Amino acid sequence: MDLFSHTTEAQRINELTEKLNYYTDRYYQDAVSEISDEEFDFLLKELEKLETENPHLKRPDSPTHRVGGTITKEFKAVEHRYPMLSLSNTYNEQDLLDWDERIKKVLTDRPYEYICEIKFDGISLSMTYENGVLVRGVTRGDGTKGDDITTNVKTIRTLPLRISDFGFGNEIKTQLEALKPETLNFEVRGEGFMPISSFERINQEREDIGESPLANPRNAAAGTFKMQDSGEVARRGLDCYIYQFLSDNDAIKTHEESLLMLKKAGFNVSPTWRKVADIQGVIAYINEWSEKRHSLPCATDGIVVKINDYAQREELGFTSKSPRWAIAYKYKAESKSTLLKGVTFQVGRTGAVTPVAELEPIELAMTTVKRATLHNADEIVRLGLQIGDYVFVEKAGEIIPKITGVDKSKKPVLSDQKLVFPTNCPACGTELKRNEGEAATFCPNDKGCPPQIKGKVEHFIQRKAMNIESLGEGKLELLFDKGLVRNAADLYDLRYEQLLGLEKITVDEETGKERRVSFKEKTVQNILDGIEKSKQQPFAKVLFGIGIRFVGETTAEKLAAYFKTMDALQVADFEALRSVPEVGERIAQSVLEFFKEVDNQEFVNRLKASGLQMEAENIVVEIEGNALEGKTFLYTGTFENFSREELENKIEANGGKLVSGVSKKLDFLIVGEGAGPSKLQKAQQLGVKMINESEFIALLG
Ligand code: IVH
Repeated sequence: MDLFSHTTEAQRINELTEKLNYYTDRYYQDAVSEISDEEFDFLLKELEKLETENPHLKRPDSPTHRVGGTITKEFKAVEHRYPMLSLSNTYNEQDLLDWDERIKKVLTDRPYEYICEIKFDGISLSMTYENGVLVRGVTRGDGTKGDDITTNVKTIRTLPLRISDFGFGNEIKTQLEALKPETLNFEVRGEGFMPISSFERINQEREDIGESPLANPRNAAAGTFKMQDSGEVARRGLDCYIYQFLSDNDAIKTHEESLLMLKKAGFNVSPTWRKVADIQGVIAYINEWSEKRHSLPCATDGIVVKINDYAQREELGFTSKSPRWAIAYKYKAESKSTLLKGVTFQVGRTGAVTPVAELEPIELAMTTVKRATLHNADEIVRLGLQIGDYVFVEKAGEIIPKITGVDKSKKPVLSDQKLVFPTNCPACGTELKRNEGEAATFCPNDKGCPPQIKGKVEHFIQRKAMNIESLGEGKLELLFDKGLVRNAADLYDLRYEQLLGLEKITVDEETGKERRVSFKEKTVQNILDGIEKSKQQPFAKVLFGIGIRFVGETTAEKLAAYFKTMDALQVADFEALRSVPEVGERIAQSVLEFFKEVDNQEFVNRLKASGLQMEAENIVVEIEGNALEGKTFLYTGTFENFSREELENKIEANGGKLVSGVSKKLDFLIVGEGAGPSKLQKAQQLGVKMINESEFIALLG
């Protein structure tokens, strides 16, 4: 860090910020990679390091904001400069024709045009740019005031952190500067959303840890935008379509111009918009997109029609809630009726028994639907279902098929099966249970019920946990069938001779094709090597793999970082667990319950004996490195990942020196929660660098 003088550090930070933003823009706007991923990461790392050492030089448009890392305790409420209104809704053609008539009566002196857009189903966001730099991202809130979620908004990779000042950017900049020479101050609004692909991935992960899936991408987006850990937000891959430009200047005269300009400046404007000459054009657009919208990457629920010309918009004005110049048309959720052929009851890894409707296949929102979850016993009663009924099927949030009721207009097909929720587990015969006040029915035989034990081992070997790929493609199945594996600890006792020659023929349900799984020498060696290699997986992965309910990948990482060892975690009490960032009552309770069970203790002990990683990697307090060599440190406040003692150890283990007070000689003041104001003030007066916890961690390299 002493390689550069102060000004060169600033110059280098500027240079790297500009360069990396340029490459990102090229990548997201033009789909061109001018440098390799490795080169990009290398430069990004250099920038991260420089910013950590010089936090005051970090620019608001630094690409390092994209990866998150900031924890926000509470989002500040901020007032919108321009209120965020809603739209009035219509559900049929006639309402639209009536609206057009009303417009016609007001706009008498010249023709008007409409812009049609897709109505994206996420949450509305407002982004403020000052001097061309993104400074704030705010939710709609009550329309007057919203929550400042800037750190989360900055993780949206398609949202420019600064409007481009290269190539076509210059043109825009001059255009805007011509309007308001001194600044580039404006707001853009758009719909923040979770792409359907991310939604599906996250729901898979939730099911994995026994959490109920999120109902639809809209809820998922709303929840994610309000998460406190922006690193997690970044991981979830949110996106945003921009549909509105607001500023005090008046050079832009139409909505069309604004969309073209936004696009040119690098904003993510969905290319689905169209200018039409009249309401018939609107209706054609509605019909065109009624099916096609299901192929978009974002959930949609209708279209928005807007008057193109700004002067005409002004003439039309607003009602108290919404503009008169725009209206939403909502597509009816497509509903089709089909035959309920039967109901199967599936037992998951956590023992929950889920009824699943088996349907006569139908086409719905561009996919074939054969099955739909019925969630639980109450849902069957609520819908009054019987096998042989015709039922209405819809897609909730356009994605997940859902049964909404019985189609009474169609005569049921006589069936000899009655639809009753089983009293015993369909997989193992154990009597099912339902806890008071809970909707789920479950099989309590968690140690002996085949789908539960299989599910647990499958969870354990998956890529995100122990990553034992060599057990994929039916191989694990064979080990179950032969009674060689009943829980994940058994994997580590498997021997070559036990496996060699095992064989099984399976029939694929869909295709009817036979598949032979047989363990020859090479396969067996491969399996054993994979199992052996998994012993190197870090502690956090082991912790995720053992399958404590509600402990997903991120929670496992947080627990591992906090407690450092399995031994410490096993004896942690409720309070200690609750002090871990993002661990709430439900997770804390679940961890306690897991370790209380003797079977689980034995299971974990067997894994320990097999040599799996049971300690976080950075546990050693002896010399770890020399990243802090020659630097002096002082800290104030409390920290999320370290106790005071741990922080002191960490500094010393990495070559740093602790000092007792703020002086000119102090290199870094590490600032935590509830930091002492006198230390802060003094550090500021003396120009001492102040860093937060994550910056300290980054310093360690
Ligand atoms: S224009 C004055 N355009 O729908 C209102 N809104 O019901 C300006 N939305 O809060 C909104 N896609 O969250 C507009 N292409 C689009 C939209 C859109 C989705 C949402 C937005 C707004 C809500 C209004």
